[in-house]
Amino acid sequence: MVASARTEPRGSMAMELTIGDPALTARLERGMDASEERLRALAAEAQDPRVAEVAGHLFGRGGKRLRPLLALVGAEFGRRAPFGTDPSAAGPSAAGPVIADPSAADPSPAAEAPAVEAAALAELVHVASLYHDDVMDQARTRRGVPSVNARWGNTTAVLAGNWLLSKAAQLAAELGPETIRLQSKVTNRLIMGQIRELVGPSDDDDPLSHYFTVVAGKTAALFAMALQLGAVRTGAPEHVVQTLAEYGDHLGIGFQIADDILDITSTSEVSGKEQGKDLAIGVASLPVLLALADERPEAGELRTLLTAATAGPEGAGLPRAVALLHRCGALAEARTVMHARLLRARAAANRLPDGPATRALHALCDFVARRDH
Ligand code: IPE
Ligand code: MG
Ligand code: MG
Repeated sequence: MVASARTEPRGSMAMELTIGDPALTARLERGMDASEERLRALAAEAQDPRVAEVAGHLFGRGGKRLRPLLALVGAEFGRRAPFGTDPSAAGPSAAGPVIADPSAADPSPAAEAPAVEAAALAELVHVASLYHDDVMDQARTRRGVPSVNARWGNTTAVLAGNWLLSKAAQLAAELGPETIRLQSKVTNRLIMGQIRELVGPSDDDDPLSHYFTVVAGKTAALFAMALQLGAVRTGAPEHVVQTLAEYGDHLGIGFQIADDILDITSTSEVSGKEQGKDLAIGVASLPVLLALADERPEAGELRTLLTAATAGPEGAGLPRAVALLHRCGALAEARTVMHARLLRARAAANRLPDGPATRALHALCDFVARRDH
C-alpha cells in the first residue's frame, strides 16, 4: 500500500529539536528553507523538463532533511561571514560558535550562503543514494509517495540518481577543493557501504562487525560529512571539524540502528516506507543479526521465515517474524546498542565548545533516541 504523502510543515525538523535558543532555531529553519529552494533551483537547471521532474521528485516531500540540518548545525561552529567573503578560503578561526554575535539573529542571506550550499550538497548526495537504494531494495514507497523506480522504472531511477550525483559534483567544484575532497570521499564510502551490504560478510567475517562497517559507510559517513562541510565552509578550527566528524559517525550509526528497528516496528503510514522491507529482501538488519547470533529458541523459526521470504509487507510471515524479534529480546537489545552509540555521540559533543550549537547536537541525539519515523 502506498502511504499518503505526509504534510509536515517546512522546517519541522529544526522545530522538533529542543535547543532552547529561539535565534538558533529560527536560523536553522531559514537555512532549511533556503537549502530546499537551492535544491529546487538545481533540479530546474536540467534542460529537459522530464529530467527536472524526476530529479526533483523527493525534494520537499516531508523527509526529515536531517543531513541538511547537520550541515547547518556544523556551520554554527565556524564564524559568520561578513558580506561577500568566503570563510572557507580564510583559514581556521580560533573562535567557538558565534551564537552570541547580535548580528547573528538576522544575518544577511549572503552571510548564510556557505551553510546553505553545504546543506544543499549533503541533501543532493542523500537523495541520489535514496534513488539507488530504492532500486536495490525494490522499494515501492519513499517519503510517503511512490519511489522513483516505482513511478518511472529502475533505469530512470539509476540515471536520475547519477544525474543528482553529477549535480553534487558540480556544486562541490564551485565551492572549492576541500568540498570536492569531502564530497568525493563520502560518495565513495556510501557506495562501498551499499556494496558491502549487498555482498554480505565473507565466511571469515564476524557478521556484527560486518554490519558496523556497512552502516558506517552507507549512513554514518554522510552524517559526518554534512557536519564537517558546514564547519569547514564557515572556517571552524580543525579540531572542531574532526570532533564533529566523530560525533556524526556515532549519530549516524545510532540513526541507522533506529532505522533498522523502525523497519520492523513502524507502519508505512508513519515511516513513509514499506514495513518489513529489510525482512522481505533479506537485508541483515541489527535486530535480525542479534536474533540469529546465538542459540535462542526463536532463531530456528525466524531463520525459516526469513529464508522463505514470506515476511514481506504482503506476506503472512511478517507479523510472526515481528513477534519473534520482540519475544527473543533482539529488538530491545538493538535499542540498547543504539543508546550506547548515542552516548558516544554525546561524549564527542561534550568535547565541543558549550553553546546552543552543541546543545543542538545533544537534541539530535534525543531525536534519534525517540525516533518514530
Ligand atoms: C540507507 O539504506 C542507506 C542509503 C540510502 C544509502 P536503507 O536501505 O537501510 O535505508 P532505507 O530504510 O531504505 O531508508
Ligand atoms: Mg532501503
Ligand atoms: Mg538499502
